[in-house]
Amino acid sequence: MKHLLKLADLSREEILSILNLADQLKYERKQGIFKDYLKGKKLGMIFQKSSTRTRVSFEVGMYELGGNALFLSNRDLQIGRGEPVQDTARVLSRYLDAIMIRTFAQSEVEDLAKYGSIPVINGLTDYCHPCQVLADLMTIREKKGTFKGLKLCFIGDGNNMANSLMVGAVRTGMSFAIACPEGYEPDAQLMAWAKENGSFTLTRSVQEAAADADIVYTDVWASMGQEEEKAKREKAFAGYQVNDAAMAAAKPDAMVLHCLPAHRGEEITAEVFEAHADEIFEEAENRLHAQKAVLCKVMK
Ligand code: CP
Ligand code: NVA
Repeated sequence: MKHLLKLADLSREEILSILNLADQLKYERKQGIFKDYLKGKKLGMIFQKSSTRTRVSFEVGMYELGGNALFLSNRDLQIGRGEPVQDTARVLSRYLDAIMIRTFAQSEVEDLAKYGSIPVINGLTDYCHPCQVLADLMTIREKKGTFKGLKLCFIGDGNNMANSLMVGAVRTGMSFAIACPEGYEPDAQLMAWAKENGSFTLTRSVQEAAADADIVYTDVWASMGQEEEKAKREKAFAGYQVNDAAMAAAKPDAMVLHCLPAHRGEEITAEVFEAHADEIFEEAENRLHAQKAVLCKVMK
């Protein structure tokens, strides 16, 4: 595996292999065992958007693997003043062993990989969030023991999370249902692909999407970069909430996952969030383990 640009680039076997390594790394960490799998390796982390989990988990992950991570903010890099990504890629390739990038356009991540000569990891774009979904899959398998026969439902915006979750569900054999308002569907090509390759349902009804679900997933109504649409989106998404009524439609032992940050009272009620806080924060912890596995796969 050379890069992690989007989840669809990975086969089912590659995804399972990352999850297996992530489980092993989590186990070793719990035993206090830290092996220098990436001794002396340097990861550059370009952030053009805010981050808590991605930044800290990648930085700590590199440290725990015996390497180093450099936080490269858009505010300080010349990329923020218009230096082309093609040039940035060729320069950074001469200093670093891998790059993680969080940005807006997916094409920027693809260009970084195309023009650079080192592995590139997508730390979120407007299009997808593969690192998050690897941690989500890890969490689901940890709690449910399998992916077989599970239904994953997503309530809310057909955004980067919905796009990657859809791919993750198809690759692992879970059925996927999304409830979203008109005009806020996931990527059209990905939906067509999911219909052809897996079990995919798009509905306007939260009750229908959540019916008998094993995993109920949601994310913010307005993503980073959509701050100006906040008021419009609050109207459009009213009712697209993970609340007691949605949970009553799901299986009694359904898990709730959220990539975080969460907006209580919007996409999820405070009650449902707190009732499932253990799962949600395990999911956040698993970012660390899943990304350490990805780092090992692309750099070792
Ligand atoms: N879930 C996630 O990617 O969190 P951050 O935006 O804090 O990195
Ligand atoms: N959809 C959200 C995810 C944050 C991790 C965003 O892009 O802001």
